[in-house]
Amino acid sequence: MTKHKHHPETEAVRAGTDLHKKNGPLATPIYQTATFEVTDSDQQLRATSTDMFYTRYGNPTHTVAEKAIAELEGVDAALLFASGMGAITTSILALLKSGDHIVAQRDIYGGATKFFSQWLPKLGIETTFVDTTQYDQHARAIRPNTRLLYLESPTNPILRVVDLRQVAAIAKQHNLISFIDSTFATPINQRPADFGIDLIMHSGTKYFAGHADLICGIVAGREDLIRKIHETRTTLGGVMDPHAAWLLLRGTKTLAVRVQRQNDNALRVAQFLAQHAKVRGVHYPFVEGHPQRALAMEQMHGGGGVLSFEVDGTGEDAKRMSEALHLFTLAPSLGGVDSLVSLPVLTSHAMISAEHRQKMGVTEQLIRLSVGIENADDLIADLEQALTVVAGTRQHAQVG
Ligand SMILES: Cc1ncc(COP(=O)(O)O)c(C=O)c1O
Repeated sequence: MTKHKHHPETEAVRAGTDLHKKNGPLATPIYQTATFEVTDSDQQLRATSTDMFYTRYGNPTHTVAEKAIAELEGVDAALLFASGMGAITTSILALLKSGDHIVAQRDIYGGATKFFSQWLPKLGIETTFVDTTQYDQHARAIRPNTRLLYLESPTNPILRVVDLRQVAAIAKQHNLISFIDSTFATPINQRPADFGIDLIMHSGTKYFAGHADLICGIVAGREDLIRKIHETRTTLGGVMDPHAAWLLLRGTKTLAVRVQRQNDNALRVAQFLAQHAKVRGVHYPFVEGHPQRALAMEQMHGGGGVLSFEVDGTGEDAKRMSEALHLFTLAPSLGGVDSLVSLPVLTSHAMISAEHRQKMGVTEQLIRLSVGIENADDLIADLEQALTVVAGTRQHAQVG
């Protein structure tokens, strides 16, 4: 069940704070401690199940950030992890056992693909990858031992948009847990629980933190599922440092304004690239011609800050162009205030097979931009000058 008391802009700033706390600091304190002191054995017993026992189990700074994010997503509870990959791997290991089966969409983050295809089989857990937007394939791939349906929307790096209602309905019909990587959208642009998705994951490293200065993962959803994942997190140990949790909380307060600016800037950049003669295809959910634009506009409030495109040339042209940019820094990652550029074949999707990449449409000519909060005219001027290094063979870009 989803529950929103306020609009996302208000929740981003105000959610999670202890409103009963008076005569105290406005900013949440950092409980930079590994452990918590007690006065006697009775209190020790009582502390065990709280966030003031031992920081691998929980920490009050984590609790405030977790409550804030749960409220923003409109779900029961959330948990923080040392990284996005920590959130994915811990959750899967918490919810599945040997002999279970996963149906996963093909267009998911490369690290998740690697975990599903190379690590889980060692534990007796198999995954069938399905075409991301062919929902009949999802249903056909489900077996009696299927437990989980894994998806990402919008997808990295081709920005495909998944029909969340349809996927949630398939999962419900077959009694599967639906698990989305919603990193690219953030709860400002999309709240998957509103469409019936059970678990929502974020690489908090990206938009939530917002300043490319920490690594963090988040899982949010139903209380019973989060409880199991919490137990596993405590055992596997992938918790976040309290100081990083505090930075994450601070980032969350400005999430809405940053994302809205990034939505505006990325749309402007996508529109510029779509009409450029040296660009072959632009992938951005809200740009004219995107195959799922209508769906994106129905289920998202904005297209997000990431887009990708192919240069009209070779892989070498793509490398040259990405190196010729001044305002887009050549670095992996996304979602921060600084604009970044990367080549997915060398970064986010370097760890998966060339065959899998080809099925996803991740080519050597593909360039991914994470658009920051700078002035859009400056960013466009930078792209314009960098595109002059591309040889170019065609006159007009296609969009989609
Ligand atoms: C969509 C997506 N999901 C998950 C991850 C993994 O997150 P982290 O790097 O925080 O472990 C990334 C990292 O790039 C990502 O882009």
